[in-house]
Amino acid sequence: MGYKTKEWRNEMRVTVDFNYMMSKSLGDNGIKDSELRALKDKAEQAFDYVAKNRGRDDLFMGWTELPYNQDAIVADILATAKEVRKKFKYFVVLGIGGSALGPIMAFNALKHLHYNELGPKERGGPKFYVEDNVDPVRMQALLDVIEPEKTCFNVISKSGATSETMTQYLIIADILKKAGVSLPDNMIFTTDESRGNLIKIDQSFGGKFKKYVLPDGVGGRFSELCPVGLLPAAVLGIDIKAMLAGAAYMDSLCSKPSISKNPALACAALQYITMLQGKNINVLMPYSDNLKLMADWYCQLWAESLGKAVDYAGNTVNAGTTPVKSLGVTDQHSQVQLYIEGPFDKVITFISVGQYGCEMPIPHGCEDIPDVGFLGGHTMQELIQAENKATAYALMRAGRMNYTINLPEVNEFTLGQLMYLLELQTAYTGALLNINTFNQPGVENGKKATFALLGKKGYEGQKNEMDSAPPLDDKYIV
Ligand code: PA5
Repeated sequence: MGYKTKEWRNEMRVTVDFNYMMSKSLGDNGIKDSELRALKDKAEQAFDYVAKNRGRDDLFMGWTELPYNQDAIVADILATAKEVRKKFKYFVVLGIGGSALGPIMAFNALKHLHYNELGPKERGGPKFYVEDNVDPVRMQALLDVIEPEKTCFNVISKSGATSETMTQYLIIADILKKAGVSLPDNMIFTTDESRGNLIKIDQSFGGKFKKYVLPDGVGGRFSELCPVGLLPAAVLGIDIKAMLAGAAYMDSLCSKPSISKNPALACAALQYITMLQGKNINVLMPYSDNLKLMADWYCQLWAESLGKAVDYAGNTVNAGTTPVKSLGVTDQHSQVQLYIEGPFDKVITFISVGQYGCEMPIPHGCEDIPDVGFLGGHTMQELIQAENKATAYALMRAGRMNYTINLPEVNEFTLGQLMYLLELQTAYTGALLNINTFNQPGVENGKKATFALLGKKGYEGQKNEMDSAPPLDDKYIV
């Protein structure tokens, strides 16, 4: 891929068009230039906060440096991926949340939409599955279609203490042991460098597992550009260097402390202004099946990062807006009616694609039926793009705020840009809100309650507390 030439990078540049957020398009429903100007100092402070703390492990800002500091790791990953592709028929990610959403998002974005159904030659790599749940039916379904001895399992968990991932591990480890397979032959761990249960398991096998490090300063939801995402992507034959180059390129496009020159800061400012107006629903609507799971990945990034009870000053703020995933054009026939006529409580972000992987001409036919005949001679690409533009326009005409992230095409380089843009946008928004973007106390509380319910040692206090909660009343069960 020619990502090293300046011209190509420019051609593949991801841009943000926020005309339909502004009063020039929306009248009184839009943001005035003066409101953006009024945010100038605060936006600069948010920019400075992120710039000043780049790479700091103690603040979980190690993700900012991932495009630059992984040369040796990338080389190692590429070598491992080559072996895995040769040796295994299936590759399965065991993980959840930040350890699963990135790998499956990149798979969806960059591989054939029916990849697993292709023959081995067309696929060029192992069949690929990501288990990001503990639904027993899902686990059984996986076991029905893979051959565990011919499968490489990538166990991804920073803490090695996540019940879901460790349950998946226990089930697979048991199956492999019973099949006489030595676990290190069929498993790769991606985990903390020195702590956690996967490290203990590895030690009990004499350090025989192949391991990749989930760096200290990188939280799960910001981890797609470290081995969490890079190994599965490389196994799938995705150009991970191009993905990292895309992220670095977006970083360079976001190097100015100005809303009009920094796309991530612009998006953060728009989200922040609209949050203060009470618009508490944040819809991400890619017009591309390849980017459908980008919306899932983004929902976690946004929700877990910004949904916080208190700010740094100790005030109760209950910050955050609710991310909603939507797919164009599919959800035009499901959600868009609400977006156009329902409450004025949403901001819609479209992701548009300039050139799809194929255009798919629409043949002529039914010329005597005007409602159908007009379609002939166009392409599906034209149709989806026209519907995307038309929906943005219709929303604008109805006074509804929306903006568009434009991808010239979906490839490794543009995906890297998009991920980094959304990560930076989230970090800037957190800084504008003066909250800790990188912790997740709410999720941790849920994890502890699960431990208590399943009788884990050390969680007796939590169990007692749960037992002493008011009993459920039958009259509220119908
Ligand atoms: O973003 C996060 O930090 C979380 O979603 C974690 O990725 C998730 O809870 C899994 O944690 P772990 O990687 O420790 O198993």
